[in-house]
Amino acid sequence: MTKKYNVAIVGATGMVGTEFIKVLEQRKFPVAEIRMLASGRSKGKMLKFCGKDHEVQELTKDSFKGIEIALFSAGGGISKEFAPIAAKAGAIVVDNSSAWRMDPEVPLVVPEVNPGAIKRHKGIIANPNCSTIQMVVVLKPIHDAAKIKRVVVSSYQSVSGWGKEAVDQLWAETEEAVKLDARCSMLDARKIKRVLPAQIAFNVIPHIDVFLPNRYTKEEMKMVNETQKIMEDSSIKVTATCVRVPVVISHAEAVNIETEKKLSADEATEILKKAPGVEVIDDISKEKYPLPIDAAGKDPSYVGRIREDESIKNGLNLWIVSDNLRKGAALNAVQIAELLIA
Ligand SMILES: NC(=O)c1ccc[n+]([C@@H]2O[C@H](COP(=O)([O-])OP(=O)(O)OC[C@H]3O[C@@H](n4cnc5c(N)ncnc54)[C@H](OP(=O)(O)O)[C@@H]3O)[C@@H](O)[C@H]2O)c1
Repeated sequence: MTKKYNVAIVGATGMVGTEFIKVLEQRKFPVAEIRMLASGRSKGKMLKFCGKDHEVQELTKDSFKGIEIALFSAGGGISKEFAPIAAKAGAIVVDNSSAWRMDPEVPLVVPEVNPGAIKRHKGIIANPNCSTIQMVVVLKPIHDAAKIKRVVVSSYQSVSGWGKEAVDQLWAETEEAVKLDARCSMLDARKIKRVLPAQIAFNVIPHIDVFLPNRYTKEEMKMVNETQKIMEDSSIKVTATCVRVPVVISHAEAVNIETEKKLSADEATEILKKAPGVEVIDDISKEKYPLPIDAAGKDPSYVGRIREDESIKNGLNLWIVSDNLRKGAALNAVQIAELLIA
């Protein structure tokens, strides 16, 4: 008989938590008990798992008794405080926040890229940032074939990457703009709860997470530092500009790569067609390329618009799209849990 595991979801009522529930069901993860944890606000709410209702419990330091795997997605502060408590109680934590990602003692894992890193865990394993995960799945096979020297990435990130309140902001602003027929003017910020730094309906915002002393945002530096850690190669230079766009689910990225060895667009395409977790959609004769709306609810990192960068000797341009709540968060974490029990 297959062993079954007691699993806790911390942040079970959130965007990522909801996706955790779906992914565990869809992948038939061997669950014995599921414990839904969230803030006191959600205590007593019912969440369905495999057709059965489960009552949401308030997260406390006693929440992890008997838990073997704890999937965390309730923000960095909660992870910082409760992941060590869960680990001490005997659970292995897979954490979605940024709290532990750059801790040298904590492995940062994308199963298609560095599955071996998992063995070094001491109770906590970090799940990378959503925009980094979808990119490294595509970069890894290219790096293996031609050694990547430099990556220049611009992201187009959906509002669900911020959480459910940002989705509500986009929705409410869109309704208000349509009602007022205000296609180009700013909406009255006092009327709608704003969690993003600016109006997002009919707008784009070049600001994700906080600004740092080097003038980059924290999100941009996550892409730099996490890429090097996951690829286990600090010689790869990365520079990023991260932008929030009025899309509900799926992040898109325009990625420019410089390699040591020349790869033609056709060679890169062939490599990517065989890469795990990657799906190539690239038929410009039929105007086919990855779109956020098509990627939502799906698992792969989609790549298209594969072309040589004609401005340098060994360069490629790629367009990468993936569902930030699945591969960018819940799916990657559940894949880590699957590696743990394999
Ligand atoms: N969204 C993404 O694409 C994405 C990708 C990768 C990583 N992440 C990370 O995942 C985490 C959650 O993101 P999200 O998008 O799911 O956010 P969200 O939709 O805002 O959900 C937040 C969750 O955290 C819970 N929570 C908040 N305060 C809590 C507390 N004091 N005690 C216990 N639970 C608490 C909330 O419970 P209540 O409902 O009770 O308030 C809710 O379940 C963040 O760390 C984020 O950085 C998100």
